[in-house]
Amino acid sequence: MERGAEEIYELGELVLGEFERVAKKIGEMLEGGETVLLFGDLGSGKTTFVKSMADGLGINRDYVRSPTFNIVNSYPRRSSRKEENENSTEVERPGLIHVDLYRVSSEEELLDLALHDLVDRDTVVAVEWPELYVRYVSQPYLTVRLEHCDESKRSMRIEAHGRKMRTLLNRLVMIIDEDIRKEGE
Ligand SMILES: Nc1ncnc2c1ncn2[C@@H]1O[C@H](COP(=O)(O)OP(=O)(O)OP(=O)(O)O)[C@@H](O)[C@H]1O
Ligand SMILES: [Mg+2]
Repeated sequence: MERGAEEIYELGELVLGEFERVAKKIGEMLEGGETVLLFGDLGSGKTTFVKSMADGLGINRDYVRSPTFNIVNSYPRRSSRKEENENSTEVERPGLIHVDLYRVSSEEELLDLALHDLVDRDTVVAVEWPELYVRYVSQPYLTVRLEHCDESKRSMRIEAHGRKMRTLLNRLVMIIDEDIRKEGE
């Protein structure tokens, strides 16, 4: 059973640009070791979210494709600028593992994937269609619930599980509030 969320952020209806900005911001804030579970029907924006999150992690969003046929895709951590230019002190960013469980229909198949072994502190794991996995996921993790409102809008609700994610979510709320205030000026 999924544990109750400790903190919930309801973003309401977002157009594509807003949706992508939120997901990218989350990618920028992730440090590695976190899991992001993406719930939502076909076309609700799960893969779009992962692409923008990759963007925030410094991974080219165009490389991110829905891994429906091979279930797990992995994008290595971005090589730090330090290796390219000795004067740069840019920090290393985590890699991304993108999982799509749409075609996984049994617990046995799920356990064979050993998703737990993929979680390490240098990697962010994003899971589309996580219904079967949610009882095995370990903290810290975010639950993102997406809904199709109309052609151009999706609603987004984010739930934080674990102290690290509560902190992240609180920061996200502040950043988005600030963005909205700036837009209104
Ligand atoms: N406001 C919006 N937010 C997110 N996506 C939007 C929005 N408006 C339109 N879209 C479009 O909706 C589509 C969402 O498709 P996407 O592949 O991300 O969904 P999905 O949830 O991964 O579907 P699947 O279950 O098939 O994997 C994209 O083509 C995206 O451009
Ligand atoms: Mg998808």
